[in-house]
Amino acid sequence: MRYGHFDDDRREYVITRPDTPLPWINYLGCEDYFGIISNTAGGYSFYRDARLRRLTRYRYNNAPLDLGGRYLYVRDEESGDSWSPSWQPTLSELDDYECRHGMGYTTISSKRAGIRVETRYFVPLGETLEVWRARVTNERSAPARVSLFGTVEFCLWDAQDDATNFQRNYSTGEVEVEDGVIYHTTEYRERRDHFAYFACSAPSAGFDTSRDAFLGPYRGWDRPVAVERGATSDSIAHGWQPIGAHQVRLVLAPGETRDVIFVLGYAENPKDAKFDPPGSGTIDKRRVRPVIARYLDPDAAESAFGALRNRWDGWLGSLQVVTDNSHLDRMVNVWNAYQCMVTFNLSRSASLYESGIGRGMGFRDSTQDLLGFVHMVPERARQRILDIAATQLPTGGAYHQYQPLTKRGNDAVGSGFNDDPAWLVLAVAAYLKETGDLAILDEPVEYDNAPGSERPLDDHLRRAIDYTLERLGPHGLPLIGRADWNDCLNLNCFSDTPGESFQTTQNRDGGVAESVFIAGLFVIAANELAAIAGHRGDVPESERLRAAAAGMVAAVDAHGWDGEWFRRAYDFFGEPIGSVLNDEGKIFIEPQGICIMAGIGLDDGRAVRALAVVRERLATPHGIVLQQPAFTRYELRLGEISSYPPGYKENGGVFCHTNPWLMIAEALAGNSEGAFDYYLRINPSAREAISDVHRCEPYVYAQMIAGPDAPTHGEAKNSWLTGTAAWNYVAATQWIIGVRPELDGLRIDPHLPAECGEIQVLRRFRGTTYRIIVRCQPATDDGSPSVTRLVVDGRPIDRNIVPLPETPGGEIQVEALVGPAEVPS
Ligand code: GLC
Ligand code: GLC
Repeated sequence: MRYGHFDDDRREYVITRPDTPLPWINYLGCEDYFGIISNTAGGYSFYRDARLRRLTRYRYNNAPLDLGGRYLYVRDEESGDSWSPSWQPTLSELDDYECRHGMGYTTISSKRAGIRVETRYFVPLGETLEVWRARVTNERSAPARVSLFGTVEFCLWDAQDDATNFQRNYSTGEVEVEDGVIYHTTEYRERRDHFAYFACSAPSAGFDTSRDAFLGPYRGWDRPVAVERGATSDSIAHGWQPIGAHQVRLVLAPGETRDVIFVLGYAENPKDAKFDPPGSGTIDKRRVRPVIARYLDPDAAESAFGALRNRWDGWLGSLQVVTDNSHLDRMVNVWNAYQCMVTFNLSRSASLYESGIGRGMGFRDSTQDLLGFVHMVPERARQRILDIAATQLPTGGAYHQYQPLTKRGNDAVGSGFNDDPAWLVLAVAAYLKETGDLAILDEPVEYDNAPGSERPLDDHLRRAIDYTLERLGPHGLPLIGRADWNDCLNLNCFSDTPGESFQTTQNRDGGVAESVFIAGLFVIAANELAAIAGHRGDVPESERLRAAAAGMVAAVDAHGWDGEWFRRAYDFFGEPIGSVLNDEGKIFIEPQGICIMAGIGLDDGRAVRALAVVRERLATPHGIVLQQPAFTRYELRLGEISSYPPGYKENGGVFCHTNPWLMIAEALAGNSEGAFDYYLRINPSAREAISDVHRCEPYVYAQMIAGPDAPTHGEAKNSWLTGTAAWNYVAATQWIIGVRPELDGLRIDPHLPAECGEIQVLRRFRGTTYRIIVRCQPATDDGSPSVTRLVVDGRPIDRNIVPLPETPGGEIQVEALVGPAEVPS
């Protein structure tokens, strides 16, 4: 069952009924100011950091799940009838409803009693504010008199404190109202030099800033007394809950349309120029007034919206494909790329499942997010790499997380997740392949943000590699530390106290648990860095790294292969995990993916064997599960993984992030059909038809789909902020479509099923536009390998890398023929 449909031309998902199985959200903003917005206008906004600079309040895990938002109310002044045009929070019946989520904007439109309201929410580029344009149309044959109310509930900035510290907060809330603009000024009197504002373009018929005054005692947002009575009361909040509510009265002739613009924004003043007049308690508004005035002007707002759309045309235009598969096309061309932008911006901080207060930016998360983003805005990827590297510790290790506002490592979570550093190498390698900008390696970067500790980025990468080499266990495999990629495999932590962190409680000394996963990841990272060193002419370093990679491959060969598949780890006691010797958790997906991606087992049949076992034991119609059999009991020596009920999350759920590794592994093993089959199993668009089972948004990936051990097999959770976005993008574009940046050119290496016929790819790469046509020919029955033959600007070339042009900027035509190798006669 569907709840909407894709509008591919407009790059929108159109939701046609408000009662989606879960709130289906979108993101506003792509630079410093962000918001989440659901299909019923729920959500909140923040400046840079969802915890420390939250503008509006949201109550997570509420009933209903999504409550608190950018709510409008309409009141018919003749009948007294009132409703929300976004359905929530009044849940009044609507004659029609449509929500269009687009690239950085959302439009919700509905009609009731002949009054249509279409509200478009977006954040103009370069600004720290959001514009809501409410277009009100009288579709009756008679004149209409309506009141329109626009509302926000302010958060007192620190979202964690806001949700807990009531003994203080109920006394600190403050506002100013001037020229019809509501300013939220809590704590501005003391240490904050920022404030929020909420303005409206139409002449004011009144306002409220006290929540109690607007809603009325014992009422919620579903039944504000001011709306019911048709009049706000110009209330001024003193403590308690400051809000912004504007009332506008409209008289509309039949067929008449009026636009009312609301602007919600964030502003800062210099510390020494906060007040006007100086020494008063009143905010200096001289800088912000012109900004507010600009966006209340309909023409300026419209052109800002146009600029946003154009910017997205540019970003998405760096890679576009035309194939005969609409699920592949719309994900690659629009939604998967868009989700990569969102994960790049927000890491795992703010979604419907991430509260914005729990986690900042993850070291391993953000470095992986970059893989799917780097081609869109390489300059931002560059800055991100330098920011992350500056949080790296002098040991080469990493803080597991850092705060986006301060860009400093988070002490509370600390370090010791031993896969973290290697991902930095992969991120830098991806950046270099995309841009060729070797100069980044010479950039001086601090360790642990300590002034004076600057060393070239290159040094950070070496230390990342050495970090693993200096931490090998009894089998010569990397020590796992608190956890590797799988946060829930906690082999050195034996937690038996409820509520204790599975990752950061370390209660056994001398943890020697080892990770085959990190071994595979290390091989990839060391080989990437070896290639970079070789590219720069540093032969000794390149050889050292190749030798280190080869040493690790030997350790995996000796202790990482279980006979039919790759083992997962060795526990604290030196016992294998992910082995036929185990009763549960016999086989894990991660080492099959990562070791094969590292090239291990490709030339001796082990890769093919492991992939066959994955297909047999782990693959389900809803994707490939993380491990089998799922753990049925809590196991002290395994940690959080066994805390989940079977079939959920890391305990036998389809943890979607890992699936693209298997797509890439299948491609490397020459099974194009298999890669594409896995791709479609978790492709959100391909799952749209079962939205009642999947339940999350059909336009973005979710972190997890419940596995077959769960009673809700097929149900997705934790949509949006997941490494699934970047990795699926990489798998689809670089391995299935097969257009892959390399240090010395663009490699064309498609792994498409033969029935794909002909596909077209447009790729902007280092300033040049590549127009690529791939023709797939049916494979031979004898299974002879596929090869790609390239014709570049009419000339056949003998490898599958299109060399870089002497002068970038032009267009290059590439024809790639994929088919069976010619059998020598
Ligand atoms: C979550 C974390 C990620 C981790 C994964 C597997 O998605 O954000 O860092 O690798 O879970 O545990
Ligand atoms: C929890 C989640 C896991 C996530 C981790 C991040 O353990 O289950 O998926 O990676 O938190 O800290």
